[in-house]
Amino acid sequence: MTSESAPPRIAPGARLLVTGGAGFIGSCYVRDVLARRDGTRITVLDKLTYAGNRANLEPVEQDLEQAARLRFVQGDIAEPGIVGPLVADADAVLNFAAESHVDRSILDPEAFLRTGVIGVHVLLEAVRAASSAAGLAGRPPVRFLQVSTDEVYGSVEDGHSTENDRLEPRSPYSAAKAAGELLVRSYVVTHGIDAVVTRGSNTYGPYHHPEKLIPLFVTNAIDDQPLPLYGDGLQRRDWLYVSDHAGAIDHVLRHGTSGETYNLPGSAEMTNRDVVAALLERLGKPWSLVRSVPDRPGHDRRYALDGSKLAAIGWHNRTSFEDGLAATVDWYRANERWWRAARSGDWDAYYERQYGTRLAAGQAIGRDAGLTSPDPGR
Ligand code: NAD
Ligand code: TYD
Repeated sequence: MTSESAPPRIAPGARLLVTGGAGFIGSCYVRDVLARRDGTRITVLDKLTYAGNRANLEPVEQDLEQAARLRFVQGDIAEPGIVGPLVADADAVLNFAAESHVDRSILDPEAFLRTGVIGVHVLLEAVRAASSAAGLAGRPPVRFLQVSTDEVYGSVEDGHSTENDRLEPRSPYSAAKAAGELLVRSYVVTHGIDAVVTRGSNTYGPYHHPEKLIPLFVTNAIDDQPLPLYGDGLQRRDWLYVSDHAGAIDHVLRHGTSGETYNLPGSAEMTNRDVVAALLERLGKPWSLVRSVPDRPGHDRRYALDGSKLAAIGWHNRTSFEDGLAATVDWYRANERWWRAARSGDWDAYYERQYGTRLAAGQAIGRDAGLTSPDPGR
């Protein structure tokens, strides 16, 4: 295994292609890496779906030195004509691009497959071609990093998933992510490309699209709207602050071993109820906003990652859940223009389709309802 003291595979000043770099985690990666001012140049390739937002890159674009090292290209990772020349011009490719919301994958799975399977394949073909050209010219291959998710392990009732555990995805979203990973593996084995995979935990922080649990509930609560908690709300997630997720990805890019996969765990395994109580407390809003609504079909009860492989190459998260949640809630309070814009366009139609009948059937739920004994995670 590569140790932290070995020279990094990708050094400061490299040329990076960041696909999906206008989304939540990808834009954090771009902002954080460019803010180091180490000469790194980044090209963002992003289709700007409903989840992609140029405003997420504004902090970079408003800084002359950083803006000079950023190029933005609007386009689809599933288009070989767009992808080929961009990959040929890069030292490494980080693929954040995906359809990322489980609920939308249940309503409309097709785009998940196009981006998660065809798109990944197009990127891999371009990496293979660019690496073989680089080899002929005596240069190192293009390194590929596939951003994947803990959800590929499926629901984990006990213990913690290690990287060699079986993939048992249970939603169209996680199935598409697992398929993307398997394609990466096949290109490492068959074509000898240089690639690593990360499996990150549930992520939260500023610039998170308001369809996801934490930003949905924060923005609904600001407006005193009901908070649709699925089922009993005792599902468990291990929350990872977005700059820790981006930092861990960058660490694996530089120090990970080709062909290997790395879990990126969070800093706090919690029930959804406890997350909601914490964000309401920070906002000074009452629990009475919470409604128990009919559950998501196939809802994974728990995700939990073993992070020892990542720790062994020298990465440790920096942000506690308390600090990260406080920063997140405060960011949404201070950035209403951003999230109200994200809740426009097709938002009302989506909201009605996802929550209309659920909220009509929703019921108030006591903070501790149905807890016969204290929940072990509290
Ligand atoms: P996001 O939905 O906020 O951003 C995805 C970005 O990809 C958007 O900017 C979108 O415009 C772009 N995109 C989508 N399809 C594209 C295509 N065909 N071509 C080019 N660009 C395209 O998602 P996110 O939460 O930032 O997630 C980023 C990655 O991290 C995804 O691969 C996701 O599976 C993974 N991940 C997310 C989490 C999480 O909790 N959010 C956890 C683990 C892993
Ligand atoms: P989400 O943010 O969609 O992430 P994931 O499904 O990838 O874990 O959801 C986090 C948890 O919150 C998950 O258990 C589903 C639950 N949830 C609700 O209870 N209500 C909601 O409206 C949403 C969006 C999620």
